[in-house]
Amino acid sequence: MPRIYLSPPHMGPDERGLLIDAFDSNWVAPLGPHVDAFERELAARVGVGHAAALSSGTAALHLGLLMVGVKPGDTVLTSTFTFSATANAIRYVGARPVFVDSDSDTWNISPALLAEELESSAARGKLPAAVLAVDLYGQCADWDPITAACARYDVPLIEDAAEALGATYQGRAAGTFGALAAFSFNGNKIITTAGGGMLVSAREELVRRARFLATQARDPAPHYQHSSVGFNYRLSNLLAAVGRGQLRVLDERIRQRRSNRDFYVSAFASTPGLSFPTEASYGRSNAWLTCMLVDPTEFGATREDIRLHLESKDIETRPLWKPMHLQPVFEDCRSVGGGVSAGLFDVGLCLPSGSSLTPKDRELVVESVLSTPRRARPG
Ligand SMILES: Cc1ncc(COP(=O)(O)O)c(C=O)c1O
Repeated sequence: MPRIYLSPPHMGPDERGLLIDAFDSNWVAPLGPHVDAFERELAARVGVGHAAALSSGTAALHLGLLMVGVKPGDTVLTSTFTFSATANAIRYVGARPVFVDSDSDTWNISPALLAEELESSAARGKLPAAVLAVDLYGQCADWDPITAACARYDVPLIEDAAEALGATYQGRAAGTFGALAAFSFNGNKIITTAGGGMLVSAREELVRRARFLATQARDPAPHYQHSSVGFNYRLSNLLAAVGRGQLRVLDERIRQRRSNRDFYVSAFASTPGLSFPTEASYGRSNAWLTCMLVDPTEFGATREDIRLHLESKDIETRPLWKPMHLQPVFEDCRSVGGGVSAGLFDVGLCLPSGSSLTPKDRELVVESVLSTPRRARPG
C-alpha cells in the first residue's frame, strides 16, 4: 500500500494543460499572462477588488503588515493557535507579537479576549499597530465581534486566510475581512501552486503598492532605480498557471474534504474518547484538515500513541499546531490566556484529509485508529 499523506497536492488535467501552455509561451518568469489572470480569477472568486500573486502566504502576510504601517517596536495582536508563519511575519517587520488564546468552540482567536486586550491596551495608551487574526483549519474566525472591536479602537485588521480559501462567514468569503488578507498555495493547502500566496484587499492602492514592493521596488525608469527597499516576492507565471487550474476545481476539493470530515465523524461517533469540533453555525468551513480530539482515559491510548501506530502503518497524521506562546522562539512574547490552545495541542490530531483520499484509504485510517493498542492507564 502506498503511504497515506496528511494533505497532499491533488492535480488534474486543467492544471497540466495550463502549465504546458505557460511553458510553451516562454513566459516562465515571475510575470506573465497567467499571473495577471490568476489574480483576476482569485479576486473574482473571493469577491474582493484586488489581488497580488506572491511567492508564498508568508510573503503576503509580511507585505500586509507593511501595508497597514506596522513598524519596528510596534505590537501586533495575533492568534496563538496557528502556524509559525503568522507570528514570523510580525517579527519580519520588527514588531512584537502578543498572542491571544482561542475560543474553546471554534478554536479561532477568542473575540472576548481580543476585545479585553484592546480595551486594556487603550487604557494604558498603548494600542497595538494591528490585529492579525487567523481562519484556523479552514474555518473562519468569528469576524463580526473581531471587526467591531478593531473598529472601536481604530486598529487595522489583517486576515490570515492561508488555510481557508473557499470558506464563508455569514455568507461572506474568507479573505474579505480586514484591510487585507493573505492566502497560501503551499503544497499542503486546499489548492496549491507548489508554493505561492496571494494578498487581497478592497483597496487598490494597497495591492498596487504591495505588488511594487514584491517586484524589488523598481521605480519607473529605464535603468534600475529604487527609492524603497523591495522584495523578490512575485509568483512565477508557471505556478500561476497551475493555480488557475486548481481554482477551477476548488468547489470540488471543498466537497471532497468535507466528505472526509463527515466520514471520520460518523465512523468514530460511537467510539468513547474520540471527538470532533462541531462546525461553527456562523459559516461554512472548507474542512482543510479534519482534527480529532483524543481523551486518553476514555479511549485507552493517547494522541501520540495513535499517531505512532498510524505511522507504523505508513499513515501520516500530525498533532494540532503547537501554540505560539509555547514556542521557544517566542518565549519573550506576552500572551493573553493560553490554556485553551495548549489543551487542544495536548490531545488533538489532524487526520489524513487530502481531497484525493479514496474510500479505501479512509477506511484504513479508521481501522488503524481503532486498532491502536490500548493501555490500562494511558499516560
Ligand atoms: C495559518 C497559516 N498562515 C500562513 C501560512 C504560510 O503560508 P506559506 O506556506 O504559503 O508561506 C500557513 C501555511 O503554510 C498557514 O497555515
